[in-house]
Amino acid sequence: MVEVTFVDTSGTPTPIRVATGTTLMRLAVDNVVPGVVGQCGGNMMCGTCHVVLSEEAFAAAGPPHPEEEEMLMFLPERQGRSRLGCQVPVSSLPVGAVVHTPEDQPGV
Ligand code: FES
Repeated sequence: MVEVTFVDTSGTPTPIRVATGTTLMRLAVDNVVPGVVGQCGGNMMCGTCHVVLSEEAFAAAGPPHPEEEEMLMFLPERQGRSRLGCQVPVSSLPVGAVVHTPEDQPGV
């Protein structure tokens, strides 16, 4: 089991416990976490799964791969530890990972 806490821009935390084998996007969508849409179903075509990982979570998950980087370049709210949630397996995250959701997602 992994526990991930999504934090919105007002600072409200949504902790979720989950077995590994899913992604941050799927976890958020399945648990109706505000601010994560996953419009393209994880095909890196929408950017609506944008999240910003905590320093510890980013260090564990690693930087975006080149194709993910191409999509992230188009996101106005992109930050240094931004990732597409659909490309981050929860199994790559440390226990108690913190993930921030942006104010807006593109085109939503
Ligand atoms: Fe569309 Fe991640 S769900 S880019």
